Amino acid sequence: MEKRKMILDCDTGHDDAIALMLAAKHPDIDLLGVTVVAGNQTLDKTLPNTLHVCQHLGIEVPVYGGMDRPMVRDQVVAADVHGKSGLDGPVFGELTRKAEEKHAVSYLIDTLMASDGDITLVPVGPLTNIAMAMRLEPRIIPKIREIVLMGGAVNLGNTTPSAEFNIFVDPEAAHVVYSSGVKVTMMGLDLTNTALADIHIIERMEAIGNKAGKLFGDIMRFTLRSQAVNGLTAGPVHDVTAVAYLVAPEIYVTKDCHAEIDLSKGPSYGRTVCDINDRFHLPKNVTVGLSIDLDKFWDIVEDTLRRYE
Ligand code: RIB
Ligand code: CA
Repeated sequence: MEKRKMILDCDTGHDDAIALMLAAKHPDIDLLGVTVVAGNQTLDKTLPNTLHVCQHLGIEVPVYGGMDRPMVRDQVVAADVHGKSGLDGPVFGELTRKAEEKHAVSYLIDTLMASDGDITLVPVGPLTNIAMAMRLEPRIIPKIREIVLMGGAVNLGNTTPSAEFNIFVDPEAAHVVYSSGVKVTMMGLDLTNTALADIHIIERMEAIGNKAGKLFGDIMRFTLRSQAVNGLTAGPVHDVTAVAYLVAPEIYVTKDCHAEIDLSKGPSYGRTVCDINDRFHLPKNVTVGLSIDLDKFWDIVEDTLRRYE
């Protein structure tokens, strides 16, 4: 099977870190690069967090720093869930790994423009980098094979009753992406909140006995406590479900629908309005993940973590 070329765009973050671990080692993925954005924490934290994970596990993929704030609205971070550092829990050594000089937006534009249109973008944080690249160079739009993102929800949000965090942090960027015409597949909270790394999953990954399994435990044990703010008993690995879709779409139930971003400055600001029942009869621009076979999903995660030294 030909490897799926992808670029991971992340705001590392606990679940971002696990998504990076999966993308970097799964045999069917060719991870070309990692772009980092402000989200769970400010960019001066999400970028070193990403570099720490790469350095710790020997992930030799170029990492690019991107946008340090949303396109329009004021900045929001998720310290209540991810801690002061954005990746509280694991203890890393001194960081020697460096980010590339090139800005993430420039990297996205240059790489997509030089491609054959075979690259999938997997954004698992706010969509600021992706939207800025689309606005700066619209010619990349037909060059993007697909965008498989973690964000939004058909039903309730997690940051407000209406909005999921990644979208809420930069609704205008999400609007640019959802209305771009690029094929968008969205792993929203309806699906991702079921992918809970509870103590049984944590102990299962730690039992692998390598650095990746231990890092999984050190990362996700922190979210056992922090996710109570979302009314959850453990940490969902939201972002990992977006990466896994590239290699096992058959374990997902999805539905095509029209989806748009509510930009009204009220209680619904940042909501992904998913017309699941096609009431508006508008073009179906998004494939929404509705459910996932969790047994097969965790097998994919475990099998991939086993591939690390
Ligand atoms: O709402 C969950 C999303 O927000 C995940 O991507 C998590 O990492 C945070 O960015
Ligand atoms: Ca994220």
